[in-house]
Amino acid sequence: METYRLTVNGRIYDIQAMPNETLLSVLRDQLDLTGAKCGCGTGDCGACTVLLDGEAVRSCIVPIKDAAGHFVLTVEGLARGSELHPIQRAFVECGAIQCGFCTPGMILSTKALLDRNPSPTEEDIRAALSRNLCRCTGYARIVSAVLFAAELLRKERERA
Ligand code: FES
Ligand code: FES
Repeated sequence: METYRLTVNGRIYDIQAMPNETLLSVLRDQLDLTGAKCGCGTGDCGACTVLLDGEAVRSCIVPIKDAAGHFVLTVEGLARGSELHPIQRAFVECGAIQCGFCTPGMILSTKALLDRNPSPTEEDIRAALSRNLCRCTGYARIVSAVLFAAELLRKERERA
């Protein structure tokens, strides 16, 4: 066992873990942050997506030793107090959530996209989310939700 320091959703944690334990298992089993899901465990489905220093990563294939010293954002850290983040609001309002298993990963991949490209086209969105699999929605409502989230964030910036 080693000790690894990482910042998750703005809080610093000293984690005891084996070097190759995955970030996903640390988040879920040690920190009780169960938003990131284990779908495949092999980096293929995107259900475990979190942000590492702002980049979307598949936490099921990131060893904790590589996450140490970095900033992790999970879906639990996105809401603003009791208010949903605009991306979360857009997913709810556009009906882009059915079983919800893919949703935390979709939302964090969306955040990474909108942080680097605030006005994505439908094509940009489909490309950015192409490795996040959803078995329920057929993706059309997810694309609508991302476009709506971009609009909400744009309005928020204009008001600021
Ligand atoms: Fe990590 Fe599928 S659980 S990519
Ligand atoms: Fe069920 Fe996407 S809402 S997998």
